[in-house]
Amino acid sequence: MITETPTTTNDGLHVAIIMDGNGRWANKRNLPRSAGHHAGIRSLRDTVEAAVQRPIHTLTLYAFSSDNWQRPQSEVRTLMRILAAQLPAQAANCVRQNIRLSVIGRRDRLPEPVIQALIRAEARTMHGTSLHLRFALDYSARDSLSRAAQHVGNNGNGDFLHALMRAYNADCPVPDVDLLIRTGGEQRLSDFLLWECAYAELYFTPDYWPDFNGMKLDDALDVFEKRQRRFGTIPV
Ligand code: IPE
Ligand code: IPE
Ligand code: MG
Repeated sequence: MITETPTTTNDGLHVAIIMDGNGRWANKRNLPRSAGHHAGIRSLRDTVEAAVQRPIHTLTLYAFSSDNWQRPQSEVRTLMRILAAQLPAQAANCVRQNIRLSVIGRRDRLPEPVIQALIRAEARTMHGTSLHLRFALDYSARDSLSRAAQHVGNNGNGDFLHALMRAYNADCPVPDVDLLIRTGGEQRLSDFLLWECAYAELYFTPDYWPDFNGMKLDDALDVFEKRQRRFGTIPV
């Protein structure tokens, strides 16, 4: 259900992170890729804890893309198990830190334990106001955009943004992304928030996700502060 309630009472930024490089982090240590996914949990906790203390109102984290279903079944199973276990753990942390947790993406293909965990996590944290933490699961920006376009076309409904929110199950409106961070060294968007990143500042770091933390988030915020955003205009 979409509410018109603002996400948080805080002013600040919408930061989005493509949490990439878990597999390579593990490979470098001769560990299975799953070890990288497990190691990434610590980075997640530390980054969220830091984000609450920073001028950030929304943090959207890419946890599983719709194209990630094409990975070997064993890896998908590991990731789904981690999600089913981590959503309750994260929800408990969120309650403690007054964070609202929600999930964007398709819900019709996720395993039942993940669905149940995300519904419970959202319900437990829906009144959080310090930060809106959004996990993108089974998320594809292109798929969301094309489904939103179909919906608007069929209904003669001009409210495209509303249709887009519905297409990826957003529970309330969120401003566009200000800062997009990608770990792991790749410099691409991999079908993440294509619409919402129209004027996002992009920050790519070679650090693998398990090596990311609150201090690295501060490095990205420092770089962001020095960027001049023009939105198509001429600086005065
Ligand atoms: C990101 O790390 C986690 C997910 C995509 C679920 P990767 O698993 O993509 O790690 P690399 O990019 O192969 O190192
Ligand atoms: C993007 O990483 C998806 C997530 C981090 C969840 P990928 O590893 O799937 O992206 P590509 O394949 O390198 O573009
Ligand atoms: Mg990757």
